This record gives sequence, structure tokens and C-alpha cells, in this order.
Amino acid sequence: MSDGRNDTAVSQLPADDALSPPPAFVDQANVTDPKVYDAFDAEWPTCWRRAADLLTWTHEPETVLDDDDSDGVRWFPGGRLNASENCLDRHIEAGRKNQTAIQWEGKLGETRAKTYQELYQDVNAFAAGLRDLGVEADDVVTLFMPVIPELVVAMLACARIGAPHSVVFAGFSADALATRMERAESDVLVTCDGYYRRGNAVDLLRKADNACLSVPYSTTEIVVDHLDGDQFFGDRHRYREILTAHDGETVDPVERASDDVLFYIYTSGTTGEPTQVRHTTGGYLSHVAWTSHAVLDLEARDTHWCTADIGWITGHSYVVYGPLALGTTTVLYEGTPDEPEKTRFWKIIERNAVDVFYTAPTAVRAFMKWGAEYPDAYDLSSLRLLGTVGEPIDETAWWWFYDHVGGGECPIVDTWWQTETGGMMLSTLPAIDAMRPSIVGRPLPGIEVGVHDSLGDEVPRGETGQLVVTKPWPGQPKSLCDGTAWDRAHTTDDSEHWRYLTGDSAVQHDDGYVSILGRLDDVVTVAGQRLGTTEIESAIVATTGVAEAAVVGGDDGVQGTAVHAYVSPEANVVGDDELRQHVCDNVEAAIGPVAVPTTVTFTTALPKTRSGKILRRYLEAIANGEDPGDTSALRNPEVVGELETLVDN
Ligand code: WT7
Repeated sequence: MSDGRNDTAVSQLPADDALSPPPAFVDQANVTDPKVYDAFDAEWPTCWRRAADLLTWTHEPETVLDDDDSDGVRWFPGGRLNASENCLDRHIEAGRKNQTAIQWEGKLGETRAKTYQELYQDVNAFAAGLRDLGVEADDVVTLFMPVIPELVVAMLACARIGAPHSVVFAGFSADALATRMERAESDVLVTCDGYYRRGNAVDLLRKADNACLSVPYSTTEIVVDHLDGDQFFGDRHRYREILTAHDGETVDPVERASDDVLFYIYTSGTTGEPTQVRHTTGGYLSHVAWTSHAVLDLEARDTHWCTADIGWITGHSYVVYGPLALGTTTVLYEGTPDEPEKTRFWKIIERNAVDVFYTAPTAVRAFMKWGAEYPDAYDLSSLRLLGTVGEPIDETAWWWFYDHVGGGECPIVDTWWQTETGGMMLSTLPAIDAMRPSIVGRPLPGIEVGVHDSLGDEVPRGETGQLVVTKPWPGQPKSLCDGTAWDRAHTTDDSEHWRYLTGDSAVQHDDGYVSILGRLDDVVTVAGQRLGTTEIESAIVATTGVAEAAVVGGDDGVQGTAVHAYVSPEANVVGDDELRQHVCDNVEAAIGPVAVPTTVTFTTALPKTRSGKILRRYLEAIANGEDPGDTSALRNPEVVGELETLVDN
């Protein structure tokens, strides 16, 4: 079964054939009228009121969009609302207080559930506690935790008092945490004692403490005891004690303007510095609620499982805010797919009767490699819809997912979006559009994209260019700091138009479906997580004995992307295993385990142009075992040949 498909595969359509949505799915779906596309077009931007109408506003928006404003675009101006009220209070008022809001699955097989009422109580008590510690509206609270219920409690408690949260992925290092705190001038940190990673306890508290020590102001730390260890707490505050002290208290949700910031999130940009993205309360929440409704087809009675870590945007939008805004049960899973065994995911789906399962192609490829016997042994018939996000899904993986997880009966939505877009932008609508395996889909209703050449002119259908967004969208962040932003394109005919450059290379086909080909900038997406090559390179170059480094994304052997590093040691320094270890340690310390290179190739020189620019595309070709092609643009073409033999070995 080398290609991962086995003889029990039930669907055998030719690869490039489109598949209609299964009728049983269509019969029950939320959005079924194909005219939705035309309706959104005809009524743009008023069409977006449908998204806003999924929320409860304390003041209805005066209009849908204000884009005349010189300081940018504002969605739903005049509207006021609170995100935690939308995710909690209104569901309780609707009589659903005993429905499970969070179903948590821990690493060691332990489970915890919280009903909407219980989540409401924790959120209120913690919000009261944060206030007590002096947190006010607009103060940024940093959250540094694995995927545990307390993280959701903390997010919603921040939202309740109008304090933007900034969740930092728990796998990040102390340095990375400190940078993010400092950039947001955040002086309150909620963290936990630690967690298990592949059987080893990770001391999160030490990383948190080190980060607090390295920011140039004093901080307040609140600690969740997740491992129930006997930590010394000093002047840190205990989460548990805060909840007990404020048990039964309620905090009135703070009314926020539609474009007040709900949260900060950082993503890797082209520079060494992480890019700060600030998402709004009204626009963002409308966007994620609408896409959860229209694309994930979620309803309050559903159990939804998005496997992303809450530290990434996917977790914010489709583990927490989208599903909870719609009043569904959202599954939180702390572990990895094969911990403790490769049946873990299928057990979770069976046990919780999961309706909608949203994951990353890299996970699907891993499942496929392990074999169909794992999912096939479980009852996955509760599933109604599958989704993928984060990177392209190849046809083989797509069919495997369709057959072995969806049983040939669940539509798959391949959703394209980014940290900056807040929510989904391109996908099929699962009850309306045919699926084309490995091709994402059209822009969602109300979303307008184009494929542009470097001058800003639209390229003809079928040709490659940069994917750009040409109209504002509700999930648009308040500002895109540090570089990538709305760009005033000067086209060859001298007309001007606004566009957001996505940094992705894409082709739009004749039917409007879009294929995503990869990143145009120096960013690699590993297991759905975006890493800046510059950031990794700076960490490598900081290693004693290293002169220069170039990092590229390349094949990981399972059709995904891995970090490949090409390192040139200083003269008289030997590129040996010890240096390799130092390089990896430095990357782990600066960014985190996710960024550690899978291969480190030592070389005497890197391929460079005559002007000294490293030409990464040759390195990429080598990493992927491809022919590097014409090397005449290089000052040192011989290096490419040398590297090829090194990598072959
Ligand atoms: C980049 C955004 C929000 C998604 C999680 C990652 C790539 C995302 C797809 C898809 C092909 C995809 C793009 C994009 N990407 N979805 N369905 N097909 N590529 O968020 O870290 O901001 O990364 O992920 O390259 O630009 P992110």
C-alpha cells in the first residue's frame, strides 16, 4: 500500500472530475441556494449584514461598511457588542445552559467537559479576578498555554472585560514569548505549570518566568496548575484560587465598538520580526460565525472538532470563536494524532459523535501513511462534513480522507485563508458547489480575489500570479502593521485599485476555482504553521562557528513541507554532528521545536548571484530532489553540484 490507497477505496472517479455534494448532506445544510453568490454580488457590501445578523449586538450597526475613512476600512460602524456575551450569555438565555460547550480530551486519555453554564461561571469568575488584578479594557493580556479548557476561559474572560488577548503558542520559546509581550506592551501573563509532550513534561512556567524577566517592565503572572505538581508559586497568582475567590460573581460584558480589538496574534512575515495582526470584535466575529455557518455548516446541536492548536489563528477562529458564537459543542484536543496510539483521533470522533471534522493536510498524509485499518476499525458514521486548511491537499490524500474518514458520504471543504484574513476566504460551499480534489474552490460569497502579475494587472484565467484580495472583507484586521498591507496597485493602464497581497502564488481556473501553488515570499508553512525563513536563519547564524545560513521549505518525505537548512561554517570550523546539534538547539530556543530543521546540510558556500543575494530556489530544488536547472545566474555555480552530491548521500 505504498501510495496509501488500499483496495477498500470506494470512490473511483477520474481524478480531475468534479464531485457533486452528497444529497443527504444537501438536504440538511444551512446554505443551499446557489443564488447566494449572485445575491451577495448584487448587494455588496450590504450582503454582509447576513453575517452580522448571526450575532447579538447591543447596538445594531448603522451601516455595513465605511470605506471612505482615510484611516482605513471599518466594518459595521456604530455597532456595539461583546464577544463573550455572543459566545455564552445568549445561548444560556436561549435555554441551552446544559449543552456541552467544551469537550476536552487530554493527552493521557482523560476527558473534561464544560457546559455553557459552567463555562459562563468560570469566565465570569476569571473576568472578575482579572479586574481585581487591575486589568482594564484595552490592556493586552498574554495567554501562554497548551490546548486546555482554561485557555478558552481566559480568552473569553478577556473578551468580557474588553481586554484584547494575545495567545502565544505554547511551543514557542521564552524569547519568542517575550518579544510578543513587549510588542503588545502586555504586562499580564496567564500560563500553566507545564504539559506533556511525547511523554516528557515540558516546564512551561520556567519559559514564562524567563520571558517575564526579560521584558523591561514588571509583570503579573497567573498560573493554571495543569500538571498538579507542587510548584513554588512565590508572588505568582494561582488560577484556581482566583476562580474560588470570585466564585458566583458575574461581570457585565463590556460593550465594545465593532472595530475595537478582540485579540492580537502574531504570524511570521518576510522580515525577521513576527508580524502583529489585530482582529476586531464585530467584523472578525461576524466573519467567523458566518463561515462556520455557511462553510462548516455548523448548528448549535453539532459537535465540532477542529484539530488546530488554539495558539494559531485556525484555533482562534474555528475551535473557539466561530463554534461558540453559534452555540455548538467544540472539541479541544491537547495531544498529537499518534499519542499514545494511532487510533487516538478515531476514538475521539467515535466517542463524541463528532459531526464536523476540520484538520490539516499534513495530518491526513500521516493517517494515510499509517494505514486505513486505524480509521476503518471505528464507527465514524456521525461525521457529516470534513474540512482541511493550511496547505494544499494533494489528490491522493484528498481521496483517502474522503473514502476512509468520510466513508464516501461527507463533502470535504478545502478552505484557504490566512492569519491576516481572520476567517475563510476561498472554499466550496459544501451543499452547493462541486468538489474538485486538490483545488480549493471559488471565493466565498461577498469575497473578491484576483490573480495579479507583479505590475498589478490581472493575469488571464489559467495563468500563475499572486493571489490578491480586491475588496474589503469583514474579518480584515484592524491594521496590518509591519509591511504587508493594503497596497495601491498601479496597473499598466494607470488605474489604481486597492488590493491586499496574500503572498501566495495561485492559478484561477476557467470555472473560477483557485489552485494555491505556494508562498511567494520567504515563508515556509510546516504542518500548517507559518515560519519565516529569515527568523530561522538568524537563529542559526547566531550559533558559534556558523558563518552563513539559508533555510528553505522542502519535501518532508510525506508530501508535506519540512525545514531544510544549508549552513556554511566559519573557516577552520568543521560541520559535524556537534555543530548540527548546536544549530538545532539555537533554533529551538529562539523559535521553538516546530522550526527545528529536519536536515542541516553543511556547505563551504551558498549559491549566490553576482550581487551576493542567496538564490534559495536552487536550494529548494536540491531539497526536493529536483533538477536545479540553469545555474548561469550564479557567481559560484559549482556549489550547486557539490550540494547535490551532499544531499544525495
Ligand atoms: C498560509 C497562511 C489560516 C490557515 C492556517 C495557516 C497556506 C492556507 C490553504 C489551503 C493551500 C493554504 C497559504 C496561506 N494555506 N490554507 N487550503 N490550500 N494553502 O494560517 O499561518 O496565516 O498561513 O497557509 O500559503 O498563505 P497562516
